[in-house]
Amino acid sequence: EKGLQIAIDGPAAAGKSTIAKITASKLGYTYIDTGAMYRALTYKALQSHINVNDDDALLKLLNEITIELQPSEDGQIVKVDGEDVTEAIRSQEVTSQVSATAAQPRVREMMADKQRQLANAAGVVMDGRDIGTAVLPNAELKIFMTASVEERASRRYEENMKRGINRSMEELCQDISRRDKADTERAASPLKQAADAIYIDTTSMTIEEVADTIIQFAEKRR
Ligand code: C5P
Repeated sequence: EKGLQIAIDGPAAAGKSTIAKITASKLGYTYIDTGAMYRALTYKALQSHINVNDDDALLKLLNEITIELQPSEDGQIVKVDGEDVTEAIRSQEVTSQVSATAAQPRVREMMADKQRQLANAAGVVMDGRDIGTAVLPNAELKIFMTASVEERASRRYEENMKRGINRSMEELCQDISRRDKADTERAASPLKQAADAIYIDTTSMTIEEVADTIIQFAEKRR
């Protein structure tokens, strides 16, 4: 049987990557976190003192660097020019700048090309903001996953506690809302539910319930 392309889109901290990892692992598919690619470019731009609003400079940088996504036990290792940046790309600094990088049209075009190449090996679960609308418009299964801002902030808060990061619920709500606004309102492939995507509000669902729902849809389409 042929592997499906599964696109999972939605706003910041909706649990997309957690669910995408579980779904990929249960189906034996490759998991691709496209947000990590924008984060890796942003990380490198900050290091190289490149303005995250400068499309030309970012595009040049993107052409010069190598971003690698490698499957690992608990998801995915991200490397830039051979350096393991899996943790570093989750920093507050990168998180607060990444939506600017991701708003640059030519950066997006090149990222989408790279992502399509990665998805060519059939049997992928790809998560992001524009996978169902722009990167893989022919994906067999599209999910648009969301949850209330408060619920997303509270999940992020729990996650931060485990990683020793100290940010208040209020700050987290602000961070998330600001990123949602930037991602939804940008001109180049904004965050938007694809017409043929299945909408899942995960506010009062467990991780297992969400993963099972998606796997049931996937089984029907295989
Ligand atoms: O998924 P994650 O929160 O790590 O993504 C970080 C940022 O990268 C998003 O806030 C968004 O600005 C950008 N992004 C995007 N398109 C994607 C994936 C992520 O614009 N497909």
